[in-house]
Amino acid sequence: MVAGNWKMNKTLQEGVALATELKQSVKNPKCAVVIGTPFIHLATVAELLKGTPVKVAAENCADKVSGAYTGEVSAAMVASTGAEYCILGHSERRAYYHETPEILREKVLLALENNLKPIFCIGEVKEEREAGKQNEVVKAQLEGSVFNLSAEQWANITLAYEPVWAIGTGLTATPEQAQEMHAYIRSLIAEKYGNEVADNTTILYGGSCNAKNAAELFANPDVDGGLIGGASLKAPDFLTIIEAR
Ligand code: PGA
Repeated sequence: MVAGNWKMNKTLQEGVALATELKQSVKNPKCAVVIGTPFIHLATVAELLKGTPVKVAAENCADKVSGAYTGEVSAAMVASTGAEYCILGHSERRAYYHETPEILREKVLLALENNLKPIFCIGEVKEEREAGKQNEVVKAQLEGSVFNLSAEQWANITLAYEPVWAIGTGLTATPEQAQEMHAYIRSLIAEKYGNEVADNTTILYGGSCNAKNAAELFANPDVDGGLIGGASLKAPDFLTIIEAR
């Protein structure tokens, strides 16, 4: 899978223009293609891309079903737009909006209940990597929010390993660092759900993945694609990355 994460970029009109470019260019991709857009774009972009290989993701959803939560958008609302995926646990949500493992566990369950496929993000910050703690951090993130799922629920989960020090910094993990962590994550899934489930789990790499380095990252056996921020905002770059998978 190659998934875009537009973050808080593009007006509705700009987003529709980018989605239109992708619609015209992505014809027979060799992998699943998803774009994560702001909430307000979802309905229009999902309608525009209906019947094409490009699927749509929200970048978040609420941890509550419905009710008096001013400004929030529920998983059911996201699903009603035609979006099929929901990015959850992104490090920016964790850091700036204080999303805890418990909150994320609720969001994942609500997404699944509403037939949305979570793209669940995990990854360590720079200090944790420097202290050699990346494995325990990632393990705790999985245990805190998604290892409570049944194997049946797990089948709808995509993971994205995004070392926080690599997001938007131009500092990509080396292919070796990415492969090492992805293999470790897959081993944790195997311990929990068995080898077959682990082999079938899509684990994306994210963090300054771009048109130049994507092929090298995707060449690793445990790197199943990418979650792309900045480079998903320009159609030619995003298309090059899709072709690299
Ligand atoms: P980036 O963002 O590609 O701009 O580093 C990736 C992400 O945050 O998903």
